[in-house]
Amino acid sequence: MSNLTHKYLTVNKFSENLLKWNRYRNKRKMPWKFEKDPYKIWLSEIILQQTRVEQGLSYYCNFIEQFPTVKDLATADEKKVFKLWEGLGYYSRCRNLIATAKFIHTELKGVFPDSYEGLLQLKGVGPYTAAAIASFAFNLPYAVLDGNVFRVLARFFAIDLPIDSTAGRKKFAEMAGQALDKKKAALYNQAIMDFGATVCKPVAPDCHLCALNQSCRAFAEGKVQVLPVKEKTVKQRTRFFYFFLIRFSTVVAIRERAEKDIWRHLHEFPIIELDSIEPPEKAIETAVKRNWIREGDVTKVIKKKYTQKLTHQTIHAFFIECEVEKNPKGLGEFEWSTWQQMQDRSFPRIINDYFSDHYPEYSA
Ligand code: ADE
Repeated sequence: MSNLTHKYLTVNKFSENLLKWNRYRNKRKMPWKFEKDPYKIWLSEIILQQTRVEQGLSYYCNFIEQFPTVKDLATADEKKVFKLWEGLGYYSRCRNLIATAKFIHTELKGVFPDSYEGLLQLKGVGPYTAAAIASFAFNLPYAVLDGNVFRVLARFFAIDLPIDSTAGRKKFAEMAGQALDKKKAALYNQAIMDFGATVCKPVAPDCHLCALNQSCRAFAEGKVQVLPVKEKTVKQRTRFFYFFLIRFSTVVAIRERAEKDIWRHLHEFPIIELDSIEPPEKAIETAVKRNWIREGDVTKVIKKKYTQKLTHQTIHAFFIECEVEKNPKGLGEFEWSTWQQMQDRSFPRIINDYFSDHYPEYSA
């Protein structure tokens, strides 16, 4: 064994012990586990790319129910697909999902690629997802390298190279490849992910109950809390959105969000973003200046502050309800939508939360 031997265990022994843990102690159940249909695996992996398993579960089940095959997804009404994705965030994943389903259906005659390289050609599929599909569906010997794997390997072998540095990525990829049990790629990959998610957790790992603690180097050296190391810490942003629900007779002003952010292609109400938390009057003043409303048009200022935490930002939202008598000059780029039509549109979760509090009859 090479330099990847430490005084506790070799990488091979590590995988042997991991598989033993998997066989006797891994109780994690998920609908895509042991699945062999590449379409279903692909779907689960795209959903799980930026989403926690607990949150992704119901989405996965709904998608499989509505679109049991790649053909069903490829030929579906796109609006319906986006509606089903609503709330998961990172909507480029949904766009890629649709594009890839169409590509497989029309260009590949409905047959999923069965090689790592072929999978990598698909939109939205990077090295991690290609390795996951290749191993789970076809048992091909590709090691997955995701946050769980970085963390488990960094701790078990006490590697303090930053996981987001070039040298770190290279080292971890090499280790992951060596640790992989090549004959049991599907089993091994699922085991290391489950182990990282349920035992070797990011915060408060269960070291004292861990079946691998006797040979975990970070545990022996008291480094569990500081591993893995990251070079860059991503700045957290806090944003303050003031949404205006502007009614004109039986319709409401909405638009498709154009900004190239995670809410792109979702719908929203006229919005004022302020740099800090301010009384709603400040946003109302701006809305008046933009000719969205007149001062007297405000009918209700919702007291509750709605909050949504995204990976790198926290959004606080406030809702101000207004009633206008004629089509305001400043809302030219907005469409006027009935409540019925709004139900077919996709909205950010924070707006849906507001809907279900105040208009439960219209929320899903
Ligand atoms: N995250 C991404 N893929 C996963 C999988 N197959 N099982 C558990 N968590 C995952």
